[in-house]
Amino acid sequence: MTTHPPIDIEHLRRQHQLDWVASGRDLVVGDAATCPLPPDELMRLDARHPAVREVHDSGLTAEVFRVQAGGRDWAVKRARAACKVQGVDGQTSFLNEVQRRAEMAALPSLQRAGLSPTVYASLKQGLIVSPWIAGAPVSDWDETSLRQLFDTGLALLRAGFFEWDFCPGNVLRDARQVWLFDYGYLYRFDPRRHFNSAGTGLSAPQHHLAERIESRHVFGGLLRLELEHGADAALRAFRLEKSIALEAYQRLRSLLAADGATATVLQWLDGICAGWRAALAGSLSDLYLREAWRSHATDLADDLAGQTCTPTTLARADWLLDALRLHHAALAAQRVWPAAEAALDRPGLIALYEQRRRQAVAYQLPRTTHA
Ligand SMILES: Nc1ncnc2c1ncn2[C@@H]1O[C@H](COP(=O)(O)OP(=O)(O)OP(=O)(O)O)[C@@H](O)[C@H]1O
Ligand SMILES: [Mg+2]
Repeated sequence: MTTHPPIDIEHLRRQHQLDWVASGRDLVVGDAATCPLPPDELMRLDARHPAVREVHDSGLTAEVFRVQAGGRDWAVKRARAACKVQGVDGQTSFLNEVQRRAEMAALPSLQRAGLSPTVYASLKQGLIVSPWIAGAPVSDWDETSLRQLFDTGLALLRAGFFEWDFCPGNVLRDARQVWLFDYGYLYRFDPRRHFNSAGTGLSAPQHHLAERIESRHVFGGLLRLELEHGADAALRAFRLEKSIALEAYQRLRSLLAADGATATVLQWLDGICAGWRAALAGSLSDLYLREAWRSHATDLADDLAGQTCTPTTLARADWLLDALRLHHAALAAQRVWPAAEAALDRPGLIALYEQRRRQAVAYQLPRTTHA
């Protein structure tokens, strides 16, 4: 029997996307005739157009217009000539979104509340048209909103879609529902064999749905709670989020088992659930410290890599520095550091994170939104 080295699905995806961009091929979703205005006109929109109600130009990949036409509001996302996020994934994120929208439009399980549907999209025209979501970013995660977000995340996973970027700018809540609408970093993977879409699919077991939601979003809010209302308030909110995550993962585990998932995937999920269950039975403070460290360190690294730092990035860097000063021994006992960092002593770690904080200051983005 011959054994094959595992395929690097991330490398393959990047290569296909770069090839697609180089080929100049178009990709169209939906029918131009269903657009609120003709695509040519949408391509030339600006704030002075009579149908434009709002312009969001804080997005890194695109500008988004709220367009009123035919008695409804539409979101018109128009690609920037150059995406402001560094790296291949940033540069191909508009193509990625159109690709995912094309696939999602063909899958009945993904036509659901919580996932922005596509009215029309064209890669070459640099347009994505979807219904406007009359909502706002989520700053207080209540039970209903958390359940909705995990439900949506689960539906995506089961259909073979892994969302990496649950940042506050990519999640909106209207009167009924939490919505995802930015599919720039939503990648394909096989949920029965893979943990996620990174590397071979098995190379980054630390990344999964709850980890992404916590690192990109929930722990930003918990950090604010800690600062404004103290550690106990943050722990209570964390307990709520973690119990909802545990319920969702138990469901995910049985769904994937029924779908024929490998023992590797099921044991990985079992391990995650067992850790959470044990922590939920106790004070949760060890798990909080460990996952807060992971969330803030991961998010800081992401923002430094994309050169997309914000005031929240700096607050996260400050949290990490405080944690090193106050809880170094507990962090060491919980083995939160990768090998290169674990080799450093406390002053060495503090110096490293001070340097990262300075870098984050240098990479801060100017952010503007016109209403
Ligand atoms: N369908 C929609 N309904 C309402 N608002 C929307 C919609 N789509 C986008 N927006 C608004 O426009 C902003 C930017 O949209 P989006 O995240 O899709 O762009 P982006 O350039 O990919 O962002 P980034 O690269 O920063 O993640 C959102 O944060 C949101 O405020
Ligand atoms: Mg976005």
